[in-house]
Amino acid sequence: MNGGEELSEESIYGEYRGNLEKILENIVGRIRDYTDETYEQTGTKLHEHLIARVKSDESMREKCRRRGLPETPYSALHELTDSIGIRIICSFIDDVYENVRRIKAFPNLSVVLEKDYIRHAKPNGYRSYHMIIKVEAPFEDVAGNTPGEYFVELQLRTIAMDSWASLEHKMKYKKNIPNSDIIVAELKRCADELAACDVSMQTIRDLINYSS
Ligand code: GTP
Ligand code: MG
Repeated sequence: MNGGEELSEESIYGEYRGNLEKILENIVGRIRDYTDETYEQTGTKLHEHLIARVKSDESMREKCRRRGLPETPYSALHELTDSIGIRIICSFIDDVYENVRRIKAFPNLSVVLEKDYIRHAKPNGYRSYHMIIKVEAPFEDVAGNTPGEYFVELQLRTIAMDSWASLEHKMKYKKNIPNSDIIVAELKRCADELAACDVSMQTIRDLINYSS
């Protein structure tokens, strides 16, 4: 008995598996540090909540197959960039951009790819700020370098964007939904209304903060 997974079955991350958890913890710790500090200094909560995960073996293997990559540590850690994922959920749009600024200022970090789906929403209405970053860590990486370089995928969004994305995700992965074209159109309408509300909420907060 071993709870389902064969103990003999090797992780797609191979010997690097444990490093991923350590790197995730380190980045999340640094995000919590500046968040706590800002809260103590200004009373502003830079995020509402945060989700952090190492992509499961099963999902990573499935993604490799989908991309036509061999199921190896090199594919999982070097060809694909979302083995480590962090999603930061904020109350206000400005807080999303403030988090982006703070994270970019971390030492030993470089931004590999940035997609601003807030300023440029996807045609379906999806909004979020995406960043792939590369962090230096005091462990060997899959290319044999020490210190090693590891990729981390960050998604930053407002609460409204997050609830929309969860609902849309449910629809996308369910097949043969009746009236799906109506649902797609309604989702798009909702996304745009939520985006307008996010802008209004930001404006109201600014008015409250800057009134004497
Ligand atoms: P993968 O989708 O992971 O293969 O990467 P990609 O190269 O398409 O990158 P992209 O930045 O577009 O998406 C990365 C992740 O963002 C996805 O895995 C989802 O978690 C999320 N995402 C992107 N687009 C959508 C969308 O239209 N709806 C929802 N619900 N999530 C999305
Ligand atoms: Mg995608």
